[in-house]
Amino acid sequence: MKRNKPSMTARKVALNIVTLGSQPGMDTVLPHGIVDATARLLVASGAAGERTVRLARSPRMIAVYEAFDWMLPGQFEAFAHRKAFCEQQVRDSISSGATQVLVLGAGYDTLCCRLAPEFPGVRFFEIDHSATSSLKQKGIAALGASENLHLIAEDLGERELSDVLRTNANWDVTAQSVILAEGLVMYLATEAVQSLFRQCAASVGQGSRIAFSYIPSGEDGRPDVGRWTGLMLWLQRVVGEPWLWSIRPEELSSFLQQHGWREAPELIKGGNRYGVEFFAVAVV
Ligand SMILES: C[S@@+](CC[C@H](N)C(=O)[O-])C[C@H]1O[C@@H](n2cnc3c(N)ncnc32)[C@H](O)[C@@H]1O
Repeated sequence: MKRNKPSMTARKVALNIVTLGSQPGMDTVLPHGIVDATARLLVASGAAGERTVRLARSPRMIAVYEAFDWMLPGQFEAFAHRKAFCEQQVRDSISSGATQVLVLGAGYDTLCCRLAPEFPGVRFFEIDHSATSSLKQKGIAALGASENLHLIAEDLGERELSDVLRTNANWDVTAQSVILAEGLVMYLATEAVQSLFRQCAASVGQGSRIAFSYIPSGEDGRPDVGRWTGLMLWLQRVVGEPWLWSIRPEELSSFLQQHGWREAPELIKGGNRYGVEFFAVAVV
């Protein structure tokens, strides 16, 4: 990962969400308000220019994204399902008593900015590399920050999450919390993923959950996204954000157990696989 440069993949996900707003039928899948909020955040942060965002809103861009689906089948619309899955997990957790929301590798995701004013009694936290986080900070400041939203600039490959949270005066390690790791764990080395799950478990109170997306492993143990896996792995390396971690879905439960969590598929309301990614939830 190029640490000194804002994440290209985070920008791509955000622009994809803006285009999904023009895709017929996606309004019933995408969380309410996400398209406009993402478009505003991209421009206010400087992550994308007004012209780029206007182009992303154009229905013509749908054809472009759909053309790329030959490489990652179904991935264009999968981002809408991923956002819906994450928002559902956060809303369900808050309904069941969670008072802290932590989004790891948040990129230009707008969940915390949208939900923080709606739930003033809940504390929202985001962590990302400083290059991406500082752009986001700028965008949020321009759009109007909420007192209960905290942006933390850290490299989770360099500094332990438990240390980051322990030294943050606003984070309570005993509070019921929900952690999101959406489109993140594939970018971390195996030891970093194992350690991340253990540290998450050690940083939250009873009844907490973690929701995340992951890429399945193929027979050779590498991430498997179908026929064009080799090309995708190469492209990810070229943009400086290589895919490093994946797991077979049938091995996930025991992996989670070894690292402090119990897989809880009963907490997933829709499907658990869209495009090339799986969605999973675990509880402490
Ligand atoms: C594919 S983007 C996903 C962004 C966001 N979760 C979403 O789905 O819209 C991955 C994000 O993880 C962040 N990331 C990757 N490795 C990281 C690390 N070691 N520490 C902190 N953030 C990291 C990147 O900067 C980027 O914003």
